[in-house]
Amino acid sequence: MTRAIRIAPSILSADFANFGAEIRAIEDQGADWVHVDVMDGHFVPNLTFGPQLCKAIRPHIRTVMDVHLMIAPVDPYIAAFADAGADYLSAHLEAGPHVHRTLQAIRAAGCKAGLALNPGTPVEAAAPLLDLVDLVCVMTVNPGFGGQSFIATQVAQVAKLRALIGDRPVLIEIDGGVTPDTAPLVAAAGADVLVAGSAVFKGGSVANPAPYGANIRAIRAAAEAAT
Ligand code: DX5
Ligand code: ZN
Repeated sequence: MTRAIRIAPSILSADFANFGAEIRAIEDQGADWVHVDVMDGHFVPNLTFGPQLCKAIRPHIRTVMDVHLMIAPVDPYIAAFADAGADYLSAHLEAGPHVHRTLQAIRAAGCKAGLALNPGTPVEAAAPLLDLVDLVCVMTVNPGFGGQSFIATQVAQVAKLRALIGDRPVLIEIDGGVTPDTAPLVAAAGADVLVAGSAVFKGGSVANPAPYGANIRAIRAAAEAAT
């Protein structure tokens, strides 16, 4: 089976003083989606940005705005992120006791719903939720920071999730430590969307964007060779 692999650079690794130009650069260089990591300093030990930043960068995104919420609680902020223009809005299963309600609320707000799973969460926990989601994000690092090492034991979890999803129209997204070396492992296990921060932005800049393109092509080629 051949699957189209989407590459979703995380702007966590971009120049924070220049998001508009960085987004144009990665899209010009072949990015399929733009991944936005929202962190609250509570669910994860880092702070990034909120709905106002998402709204400000939305006009600069021509592709897909993929918003990864690493926040708890989630529900009070769904409307704000939907209003900011999120296409996909992903919440963590571990972020609260009522993830089923959260996923319903994300769809009711007009976004595609994503369910993110920490490395310590068995993918079987997603089984009752698979008809409520458009995407499951399997974390291959502990969320909070870019540039961490890929957790290889998650590859088996991706394969299990692929089997659980069956023929439902649900994408599997991989987030954390994706490089040309690790992309084939998850692609072979059934991944559709590869988030990559440091491996896309390394060596390039807005003034010198060609390395972004080379990095994206290297990840995509490695992944596609394995599907
Ligand atoms: C981690 C974030 C990731 C991160 C990926 O909490 O959710 O999206 O930016 O960065 P790399 O690709 O550098 O591991
Ligand atoms: Zn992310």
